[in-house]
Amino acid sequence: MSKEMKRILITGACGQIGSELTMVLRERYGTDNVVATDIRKDPSREMVESGPYEVLDVRDREKLSSVVEKYSIDTIFHMAAILSASGEKNPWLAWDVNINGLYNVLEIAREKNLTRVFVPSSIAAFGPETPRKNTPQETVLKPRTIYGITKVVGERLGEYYFWKFGLDVRGVRYPGIISSKTLPGGGTTDYAVEIFYEALKHKKYTSFLRKDTRLPMMYMPDCLKATIMLMEADLSRLKHHTDFNVAGMSFSVEELANEIKKHIPDFKIDYKPDFRQEIADSWPESIDDSAAREEWGWSPDYDLSKMTADMLEKLRKKLSID
Ligand code: NAD
Ligand code: SER
Repeated sequence: MSKEMKRILITGACGQIGSELTMVLRERYGTDNVVATDIRKDPSREMVESGPYEVLDVRDREKLSSVVEKYSIDTIFHMAAILSASGEKNPWLAWDVNINGLYNVLEIAREKNLTRVFVPSSIAAFGPETPRKNTPQETVLKPRTIYGITKVVGERLGEYYFWKFGLDVRGVRYPGIISSKTLPGGGTTDYAVEIFYEALKHKKYTSFLRKDTRLPMMYMPDCLKATIMLMEADLSRLKHHTDFNVAGMSFSVEELANEIKKHIPDFKIDYKPDFRQEIADSWPESIDDSAAREEWGWSPDYDLSKMTADMLEKLRKKLSID
């Protein structure tokens, strides 16, 4: 049996995933038992009013150590990172945050004998030499982006800490995450969120990816479900640890636009690919997640049509659009 998670710290808690993960974990584990942290000094009211919040740069190992001590933390969900598009604009920062931040988290977890650490990987761990359709669990990992390189290091380093030091590190290769609450933070899959806001506000969108660009994607409820399922899975069932493929759905930009048109018939899209096209072209189109299904029972709840209907409903309310 795995040890229980009782006192949780989240890094990068103000981000697209962290902001929703914090609330779900607070509901599940108790508000005072989930400490949200981020480099940002301007967290949302919801974040600070619903439980503890600390400003924390993951590159600051002393501060990380003192926050872990202060709250008797036993589990870290390490969500702080610089994503693919931002990483290509500043590869030095991406390396510093994604590698040195991760190293600090793993070292503190090792020193303090923590119960478990979640370190997310990404479809960005793959590269142009990887089979693009139904990408296997075990395959070529030769990413061309600095972000992808840091994700491969994260997978291998987490696995190293597991075998060398017995630290229970777990992680999934998230696809592009689509959500209605917090905007994405500088990735290549951000178009799949922006398109909904623009469709509702202006009935048109200019895509920075070509219309035939097909990528693996996942709706936030499935992202949260996968994260928590893996972290609560019995360790003895896991053959993999830090690098599970997880699939939600897979669609091209044009297919998403057509799905939105079913709800907003006069929605128009045009295409002006930029530097992110090359990144997207180096990533898979779809993912084989049979290892996650076998080892911890993964299956997604949302497909393209269910996700689109839910996104539009949530954003209509958020933006007060009828
Ligand atoms: P995000 O960019 O939305 O959020 C990252 C958060 O980290 C931000 O709130 C930012 O302020 C914070 N941060 C940046 N530098 C920091 C530092 N030095 N110290 C502390 N905090 C810092 O990212 P996200 O989409 O929420 O992603 C969370 C994790 O999931 C990342 O590891 C990311 O690589 C991974 N992931 C995300 C997606 C996706 O589509 N969102 C897909 C694959 C993998
Ligand atoms: N959504 C992320 C990005 O585009 C994938 O890891 O960077």
